[in-house]
Amino acid sequence: MRYFKSVSDIGDLSAAVKEALDVKARRFDFKHLGENKTLLMIFFNSSLRTRLSTQKAAMNLGMNVIVLDVNQGAWKLETERGVIMDGDKPEHLLEAIPVMGCYCDVIGVRSFARFENKRDDYEEKILNQFIRYSGRPVFAMETATVHPLQSFADLITIEEHKAVERPKVVLTWAPHPKALPQAVPNSFAEWMNAAGYDFVITHPKGYELDPQFVGNARVEYDQDRALEGADFVYAKNWSAFADPNYGKVLCTDRSWTITTEKMALTNNAYFMHCLPVRRNMIVSDDVIESERSLVIPEAANREISAQVVLKRILESL
Ligand code: CP
Repeated sequence: MRYFKSVSDIGDLSAAVKEALDVKARRFDFKHLGENKTLLMIFFNSSLRTRLSTQKAAMNLGMNVIVLDVNQGAWKLETERGVIMDGDKPEHLLEAIPVMGCYCDVIGVRSFARFENKRDDYEEKILNQFIRYSGRPVFAMETATVHPLQSFADLITIEEHKAVERPKVVLTWAPHPKALPQAVPNSFAEWMNAAGYDFVITHPKGYELDPQFVGNARVEYDQDRALEGADFVYAKNWSAFADPNYGKVLCTDRSWTITTEKMALTNNAYFMHCLPVRRNMIVSDDVIESERSLVIPEAANREISAQVVLKRILESL
């Protein structure tokens, strides 16, 4: 594998989950793959889980790891071609990327949607420049439109906990005070569709996701109806995708918060969220602290999804 941004990059999902469970059982047995290989993780945005789990996964594989926080200690980067660089950005991404490629064997990139230009965000302008100019395998650590390491970890977690072959999985929008990207729900929808689950998306009107990610999912605007019989409830906030409201907060209705009363509508569902989560906006304290909450196992599986991706990249070098 040379690039990882979509579910299609991982190939057969059953094989990927099987490999993940094998890696989880013997995570230190692949150290030879990463010997004298260096992972460079580039963060344009903050992170707790992605930073720690991906670094741990690389260390499990025997890799050296360099972490660069672009906005803390590196030169400010210009990303637009054709700009007269007489402002506060002394270096252009088009030199910085190949330079970064000189010092590593694999690159991970975190670069969120900027909400300045929808086309730039949905064309994955930053990620694709790394793919084009670094000369290295590149994987997404949450980019403008996708977060595949999270969705792979979520899939592993569902496979570990499901009681039926084809569980009902509900992705529900929940309120949040700030405008968040669509990357997590986009990827979650893409991966749940690929897994072939009974998959439902629920959100207020105006929060429709990009149809290329919604795929064949059922969209239900009544959250209570969507939750009926659910085996897994995946809560997440996102901002509007559709024009002219791209990147805007249209609703903060707290009747969409996942509470014990909402969970009572389900088939004793597990609760999921990628974290970080705002308690009592997205989910009530009692739900996230309940025995059916999977937020910590999901986070633990981030190490495993990252290790499978890095392992496959190393095997292809
Ligand atoms: N879920 C997730 O990607 O967490 P971080 O933003 O902390 O990395």
